[in-house]
Amino acid sequence: MRWSILSVLSVMASAVAGEKLLYRNTFNSSASISSWIAEGPLNATVSNNTLELRGAGKLDDYFVYWLPEVFPDRIRISWEFQPIQEPGLAMFFFGATSVAGGSIFDKGLKPRNGAYPQYHSSDIRLLHASYFRRRWPEERVFHLANLRKSPGFNLVAQGADPLPAVEDVKGAYYKVEVIKDKRNVSFKVNGLLLFSFDDTNTNTGPVVRDGRIAFRQMQPLIARYRNVEVWKL
Ligand SMILES: *[C@@H]1O[C@H](CO)[C@@H](O)[C@H](O)[C@H]1NC(C)=O
Ligand SMILES: *[C@@H]1O[C@H](CO)[C@@H](O)[C@H](O)[C@H]1NC(C)=O
Ligand SMILES: *[C@@H]1O[C@H](CO)[C@@H](O)[C@H](O)[C@H]1NC(C)=O
Ligand SMILES: *[C@@H]1O[C@H](CO)[C@@H](O)[C@H](O)[C@H]1NC(C)=O
Repeated sequence: MRWSILSVLSVMASAVAGEKLLYRNTFNSSASISSWIAEGPLNATVSNNTLELRGAGKLDDYFVYWLPEVFPDRIRISWEFQPIQEPGLAMFFFGATSVAGGSIFDKGLKPRNGAYPQYHSSDIRLLHASYFRRRWPEERVFHLANLRKSPGFNLVAQGADPLPAVEDVKGAYYKVEVIKDKRNVSFKVNGLLLFSFDDTNTNTGPVVRDGRIAFRQMQPLIARYRNVEVWKL
């Protein structure tokens, strides 16, 4: 019985044969985020199968919210996203390890509190995609989604961001999907490809492999997340 419920859920959620579910969070209770790790002040509330995140500090305090799991390479990550207060900015961090190849939580690494340079130009290695980039006027005048590879502020891919302004969202959730397949990365919203990246001869350091994932927000964004899933390709 337990097996059949799970397999029905798997069929509903996955359209891709041969993939294996590694992780699913339906935010069905406050316990669903009890082991997530916050860097920087945030207020996380869980209700109605929805995680709502907002900053809880000063306007220029930002946050990164790590999942406790370490994921392998060759994964597809998806979630549903709904911005409910702008301006602000949303990001997804993936493949995060220490530069030395260990955990981002190893002793001896520099402290972090959500400020961006601590993540892009310090002692951790990762890929990070920004979308709903509406924090600064120059971001709002032309909506782009960016992929950067760190350490280093390497802009490795860019695409147009189709997400509308909050006033036009009207309750919609947008399905974001990130594929991390060895050297290849792709980023989609509602099935539309925003950008892809092939890390062959890019001169940006070692290829990002396995590691942790996180959500980041810049204030004053308030955003909702549902159905976070990670599938092994
Ligand atoms: C919430 O979801 C988790 C993981 O899918 C599951 O193990 C748990 O039983 C669910 N809890 C409730 C209260 O439905
Ligand atoms: C966190 O959010 C909840 C729900 O919106 C609110 O009741 C609470 O006051 C907030 N706490 C902080 C510290 O912002
Ligand atoms: C809870 O989520 C459902 C969709 O799953 C939505 O139809 C409903 O309006 C939501 N309720 C509240 C109180 O947000
Ligand atoms: C990676 O991307 C390149 C260029 O788009 C493509 O030729 C290659 O087949 C891709 N590899 C995988 C494993 O998807």
